[in-house]
Amino acid sequence: MISPITSSSAVAAEQSTPKPTLLSIRNVAKTFGRNVVLRNISLEIAEGEFLTILGESGSGKTTLLRIIAGFESATSGELWMGPERLDQQPPYRRRVNTVFQHYALFPHLTVEQNVGYGLRVAKRPEAEIAQRVADTLDKVKMTAFAKSKPSKISGGQQQRVALARALVNRPRLLLLDEPTAGVDAKARREFWDMIHEMAADGMTVLVSTHYMDEAERCQRVVYLAGGRLVVQGTADEVVRAANLVTFEATGDGIEQAVRRLRHLPGVETAAVFGRAMRIAGMDRAALRAAIDSLDGTTLHWQEVEPRLDDVFIHMLRDTEG
Ligand SMILES: Nc1ncnc2c1ncn2[C@@H]1O[C@H](COP(=O)(O)OP(=O)(O)O)[C@@H](O)[C@H]1O
Ligand SMILES: [Mg+2]
Repeated sequence: MISPITSSSAVAAEQSTPKPTLLSIRNVAKTFGRNVVLRNISLEIAEGEFLTILGESGSGKTTLLRIIAGFESATSGELWMGPERLDQQPPYRRRVNTVFQHYALFPHLTVEQNVGYGLRVAKRPEAEIAQRVADTLDKVKMTAFAKSKPSKISGGQQQRVALARALVNRPRLLLLDEPTAGVDAKARREFWDMIHEMAADGMTVLVSTHYMDEAERCQRVVYLAGGRLVVQGTADEVVRAANLVTFEATGDGIEQAVRRLRHLPGVETAAVFGRAMRIAGMDRAALRAAIDSLDGTTLHWQEVEPRLDDVFIHMLRDTEG
């Protein structure tokens, strides 16, 4: 069910040589007033890794990324980039660039002027700016729109310009905060293909999302809930470690079936996904008994592989209990 984008040779190389750590997050906590937003987050990100932070709205994803970028300081804990203490450097000294959820392009500047803006402020030579902007626009497939104003291109294209604006600084670490929120499915897909290509080329990427399907394509996921890092691993590892059993049904009456099943012993979660419904729990026999008790329905049931969202719903129950 996982479809990694990296070629098989890249995967093999990955497995044989452990990469050095690029970013080390050590016991980071953050409180706003009395609101504890992050609790002792520790996390290592390897060079060239593509790591996804998953979590519901309010779980602390943006706050963690802002702390890494330097726009927010941690209440306690440390950040290290290689031998350097990252959290003691101002944002502009960190080789970290962020594409925020609400990226704002300058409306009066063209695409290429937007991308070159930071380099111009940093007073890089014009020839260098032109070259780097051209290379970066090529990378995000926006060369044809170099002279356009942001209002003349689509949302998905604007987002690629925002990405180019980050990439042109040649960051060691690229942070993407829910970059595909509010973008249509096709543009989302293209954006992810592009990011996966960059990761395969060696860029280290840390991305937050609440779309599980996006997370399933990534090498490693961490899950934030209530400011805690609840789990980390590859999507496969996370699913396997949970030992969850999942059944899926299609047919007439799934809505009613969900409502009845939800309250039966052994059924930890029951939810409708499109035209199918899924139930999950730890006890296969109890799940089968629950299904058998639904007499009078014509649903077609089969046991299926659990997915990340099944596992996370299950974990949330555990951490809330
Ligand atoms: N600047 C701030 N001042 C006060 N509370 C904040 C601030 N930024 C975020 N929070 C709170 O921190 C929590 C986590 O927010 P956030 O990091 O934006 O989560 P996410 O990105 O996962 O939705 C929320 O309860 C939010 O209200
Ligand atoms: Mg957020």
